Amino acid sequence: MTKIIMIEKHGGPEVLQLKNIEIGKPAPNEVLVENKAIGLNFIDTYHRSGLYPLKLPSGIGLEASGVIKEIGSKVSNLSIGDNVAYASLPIGAYAKERLLPCNKVIKLPPEINLEVAATIMTKGLTAFYLLNKTYKVSANEVILFHAAAGGVGQIFCQWAKSIGCKVIGTVGSEEKVSIAKKNGCDLVINYSKDNFKEKVLEYTNGEGVPVVYDGVGEKTFEGSLDCLKIRGTMVSFGNASGPLKEINVTKQIQPKGLFFTRPSMGHYLSTDAELLEASSELFNQLNYGKVKIEIFKKYDLENVIQAHKDLESRKIIGPAILIP
Ligand SMILES: NC(=O)c1ccc[n+]([C@@H]2O[C@H](COP(=O)([O-])OP(=O)(O)OC[C@H]3O[C@@H](n4cnc5c(N)ncnc54)[C@H](OP(=O)(O)O)[C@@H]3O)[C@@H](O)[C@H]2O)c1
Repeated sequence: MTKIIMIEKHGGPEVLQLKNIEIGKPAPNEVLVENKAIGLNFIDTYHRSGLYPLKLPSGIGLEASGVIKEIGSKVSNLSIGDNVAYASLPIGAYAKERLLPCNKVIKLPPEINLEVAATIMTKGLTAFYLLNKTYKVSANEVILFHAAAGGVGQIFCQWAKSIGCKVIGTVGSEEKVSIAKKNGCDLVINYSKDNFKEKVLEYTNGEGVPVVYDGVGEKTFEGSLDCLKIRGTMVSFGNASGPLKEINVTKQIQPKGLFFTRPSMGHYLSTDAELLEASSELFNQLNYGKVKIEIFKKYDLENVIQAHKDLESRKIIGPAILIP
């Protein structure tokens, strides 16, 4: 028997239930991973609430690190005892042990410890594709990233800075201003207090930025479009404040000839080659010290309800993990 967090219905944090289940043996192309740390991600709240509906009952969670305990008869890329991490479907990372397809599990280099590994496979791989594939940033470009002190934000801003970008970050409280600065932002705007559009235009001498990375969604969308320069790119990659309303192409996109994209990991990390390239770039960033991870908080898996409450009330500043 292994412990796992399940949901039987969508709703608030209280729908998260601890269960004990039998998981069985790995199929020929599967491995059994004993999770040592589980990444807490905002997307988990969308799965729980039903914003991104799941077939119920369901496990929850996408990201974890651990040790290979058993391998299926056809597995050749991994061995028993390997330290590994993953961020992928099927959903169900909030568990002590689980079965996974072997091609979705990445062997960790020895320098990366398991707790750090559980925070980077969703957030870090997302930072990789946003900066290198969705819109390829260049040195000296001024870029805007919302929720810069958050989990994705801290990795993204350090990485962008290491490329040579000038990074404008927004945050929701004074406490988070110094955190965003420490993680590479040149200018930090507290958007709970100040009008971020005005501040961005002031900083760029009225020109605007070539790209906005927006994981906040509803509350920041209009202002983000206003921050873009002509032919700018709006990257809407999340909905922390709520999903976007319909876009009016004639009013919102056409006047500046903007590009709009709504990417997710599945669009950029679906093949084995893409996943390996992105992971290797991410591990290099950590090994060269260009991205440093400070875990903000660890929760026991049993305390998952509190973890979700803290995440949704914006109390989690940076990467957080659940310990099974
Ligand atoms: N598309 C993809 O491939 C992909 C992959 C990973 C993550 N994401 C998205 O990236 C975003 C960041 O994810 P994360 O896991 O690192 O979370 P996070 O940034 O640690 O937490 C979300 C942050 O959003 C901000 N926020 C603004 N308005 C909010 C509201 N009404 N309620 C809650 N939070 C609000 C808060 O920061 P402030 O207090 O500073 O405003 C909060 O800390 C999420 O939207 C997530 O879904 C997308």
